[in-house]
Amino acid sequence: MAIERTLSIIKPDAVAKNVIGKIYSRFESNGLKIVASKMAWLSPQEAGQFYAVHKERPFFKDLVAFMISGPVMIQVLEGDNAIAKNRELMGATDPKKAEPGTIRADFAESIDANAVHGSDGPDTAKVEVAFFFPEMNVYSGR
Ligand code: TYD
Repeated sequence: MAIERTLSIIKPDAVAKNVIGKIYSRFESNGLKIVASKMAWLSPQEAGQFYAVHKERPFFKDLVAFMISGPVMIQVLEGDNAIAKNRELMGATDPKKAEPGTIRADFAESIDANAVHGSDGPDTAKVEVAFFFPEMNVYSGR
């Protein structure tokens, strides 16, 4: 298995619920290390650019409005198979369809306020980590 890095965002709904620590604990107890982190309140430009791939989708405007509705916690996770592992811990996009015990099943209310973001593949992980963290600011405790 390859050591990978992936970008994770704890979205405004979960930050407002005060469950950053609970979500971090899931990452850590499942072998993912937090190797960079920062809290930020995204601008409309940042949120729109980050989700540019969804620009033409009907939910794009609401998604951007939601992502700028409060602070987010952004982190780089590192570990064996980190990209898929994080997606597994997150659960399905729609919390109603997410497996019990996943972050979205436990902390999210709806498909548009679904607690977390996680890169969905190696290419997006690279772009998304670089979007929020210049490489020089990412440390590994390995
Ligand atoms: P997507 O990349 O499909 O899901 P994931 O976050 O699981 O990778 O969609 C990005 C975000 O867009 C999703 O987390 C929430 C929002 N979204 C909606 O609001 N409605 C929808 O029907 C879809 C598919 C996504």
